[in-house]
Amino acid sequence: MQDADLIIHNTGQLVTCASGGKSKRGAEMLDVGIIGDGAVAIANGNYVGVGTSKTILQDFHSDELVDAEGRVVCPGFVDPHTHIVFAGDRLNEFELKIKGAAYLEILANGGGIISTVKQTREASVESLVEQSLARLDKMLACGTTTCEIKTGYGLDSATELKMLEVIVELDRVHPITIVPTFLAAHAVPPEFNENPDKYVDLICDNMLSTAWKWFVASDFHGQVPFFCDVFCEQGAFSLDQSRRILETAKGIGFKIKAHVDQFTNLGGARLAIEIGATSIDHLDAISDEEVDLLAKSDTIGMVIPTENFNAGKTQYANARKLIDSGCAVSLSTDYNPGSAPCPSQPMAMAISCRYQKLLPSEALNAATINAACSIGLGDTVGSIEVGKRADLAIFETYDYRQIAYEFGGDLVAAVYCGGVAV
Ligand code: NIG
Ligand code: FE
Repeated sequence: MQDADLIIHNTGQLVTCASGGKSKRGAEMLDVGIIGDGAVAIANGNYVGVGTSKTILQDFHSDELVDAEGRVVCPGFVDPHTHIVFAGDRLNEFELKIKGAAYLEILANGGGIISTVKQTREASVESLVEQSLARLDKMLACGTTTCEIKTGYGLDSATELKMLEVIVELDRVHPITIVPTFLAAHAVPPEFNENPDKYVDLICDNMLSTAWKWFVASDFHGQVPFFCDVFCEQGAFSLDQSRRILETAKGIGFKIKAHVDQFTNLGGARLAIEIGATSIDHLDAISDEEVDLLAKSDTIGMVIPTENFNAGKTQYANARKLIDSGCAVSLSTDYNPGSAPCPSQPMAMAISCRYQKLLPSEALNAATINAACSIGLGDTVGSIEVGKRADLAIFETYDYRQIAYEFGGDLVAAVYCGGVAV
């Protein structure tokens, strides 16, 4: 008999999302790997045993036994695309949008991302940490145990670095595992409005290498990857500008992701796939040829239905088609003050099932193992498998499909990060 620090047993369904570290594509996304009356044994923060309650209680001993009382246990959610480090809010913009203003119109008039940039530039590290911790707490309460966080509300060297300092501090003090992404190319800052290419020069000649030096010296180095992202969109960065930034970043050592096809198809999906991006995100306007390219690539297609829901749109990225074409699809909240003020992966799943026609099984894989692969952590989180970090949530239900079926409530009964109840 092997010793464990903790055994959780008597689950109604132990939903493993097991994949052997790989992303799930196409029809594989239907399989969530359910073990009926399942149990896990945890030691040193990782799973050491995954099986039925009978076998785990036979093979492992622990003084710490948790009876799940027939409820559902799933991997903690991975939220692979967030912008949660920012100051203030966009409540006025919410009202403007209700009255009919469009997102890109608000951005072009110096609102949107730029209004959050102004507030974030003025905020201290301490105040940004405090505001962002409250957002991480909400995500944790919704069952998220790993997330990606982007910079991109600084848009100058000093503030982008300040945001990175905030992100590393969040990782130090909060139980959620964090992956940082450098998004200096989120919008053109007002001081470069007359000459956006000069801002691209600054990013390529200076900001990227400075950020990389910061990463190498930070606690993240050797633990998680560091991504570079661009917003490839009309009114943000053109295809050529995006190419320059992503190629420079790749040369420095960054892993790549990109916001593409949120509103307009500029060819960003093809570009990012060819560069070997880990994920391409949004995909509302992706073309059929690009879907085929994506299906043949190792890049993950990330859909973000919270953005469409928030904008009151009836059109969503065609995630059904992506999956049916054989792509690996992931799901994120995009938690940010403008286009998606949503901390909840269960809410993203609920919207995705209704408007993108994902089945609950596909939505769950998209929000766990495929989300983990979207941030380069497919080997360590996102599924319940021996050797992985013991991040899980217990849900107040006997059938995992309820997580997507109900919405607006809260089924999360308990969350464990690295085998510790949080
Ligand atoms: O993913 N598309 C650009 N970035 C975010 C929006 C951020 C904001 O509006 O502040 C997004 O939707
Ligand atoms: Fe985004």
